[in-house]
Amino acid sequence: MNNLTYENLNGFPASPIEVKKRREHVKAIIISHPRYTSIYKKLEEVHFYSKDSVQADSLFLYGNTGVGKTTILEEYRNNFERYIKDGYTIVPVLYNKVPVGATPKSVASSLLRSLGDPAYDKGTENSQTARLLHFIKACQVEMIIIDEFQHLIDRETKHVLNKASDWIKSFCDNAQVPIILCGMPESSKIFDHNDQLDRRFSEKIEMDGFNYQTKESQIEFRGFLKSLDEQLPFNIKSNLASKKLADKFFYATKGIPYYVNKILLEATTIATKSGDDYIDENHLYEAFSQIKISRRTNLFNPFGSEDFNILDAMELEDRKDSINKII
Ligand SMILES: Nc1ncnc2c1ncn2[C@@H]1O[C@H](COP(=O)(O)OP(=O)(O)OP(=O)(O)O)[C@@H](O)[C@H]1O
Ligand SMILES: [Mg+2]
Repeated sequence: MNNLTYENLNGFPASPIEVKKRREHVKAIIISHPRYTSIYKKLEEVHFYSKDSVQADSLFLYGNTGVGKTTILEEYRNNFERYIKDGYTIVPVLYNKVPVGATPKSVASSLLRSLGDPAYDKGTENSQTARLLHFIKACQVEMIIIDEFQHLIDRETKHVLNKASDWIKSFCDNAQVPIILCGMPESSKIFDHNDQLDRRFSEKIEMDGFNYQTKESQIEFRGFLKSLDEQLPFNIKSNLASKKLADKFFYATKGIPYYVNKILLEATTIATKSGDDYIDENHLYEAFSQIKISRRTNLFNPFGSEDFNILDAMELEDRKDSINKII
């Protein structure tokens, strides 16, 4: 994808097909930033150490929305593609999301569906579980990733769905392959209610967004912006990693990759529709105006402003904690 070249628009608005192509390009960009790489390596380690081992390792990965958990897990799964051998589909890495309002039956069912069982919703909870364990062996599954783990907490009552978490516990014991559980920080509450599950997932790692407190962390965020800039579907660079733009991006996004990507996606659309061959602050201003971030009532649009000062801006939002150490 990164090798795709794009013709210069030279001021001529792109066709809707071209705009769509460039939007898809932006959506698919994945940057291997340092934290991404360290979590990816951890997944490789768990996967490798558990192969042919008497006891599989397991891991709990948690983090706030938009930090990139699913991106990394899906990328890992995509790097271990399914293939056919002796009439069986081999699924080295099985990725699945816990359905909303999970019950043991719905979790088993969705795992069966991910494995390609056409009768995924047939049978009782016990027979589905038995079929699932059979398919895990037959499809030579080496690792199972279960995302959206917070769906094991009832949305309304906030109670842990005990039956489903018990089911996950015994499933982990019986599947005999490493399990990666992943979810929002509140999903760790499930472990407080289930000591046995907690013991099986003694390794818990947090995935965080970027921060801006030290020189090193600013450099890391600017490195992320630089890599994004290099991969945008334009021939001319947009200088996103300049100190001035990086400050604005950090203020606007709190270092959460989802928002960075979203701003760039809309800015790409605006620039391409205007026939521009790079993204400038006017595009960023317009893009940011289209994005609504509730809960941040004091947030203002930093793009296009000549005298933007990140310290003042963050103070206005009462984010003094994040600026204390800014150098
Ligand atoms: N390494 C990355 N490089 C580039 N963009 C990224 C990266 N990680 C995340 N993003 C962007 O952030 C978006 C949100 O990421 P993702 O869906 O993985 O977050 P999440 O942590 O799973 O959030 P949620 O808890 O809401 O499911 C992605 O669609 C992508 O646009
Ligand atoms: Mg996700």
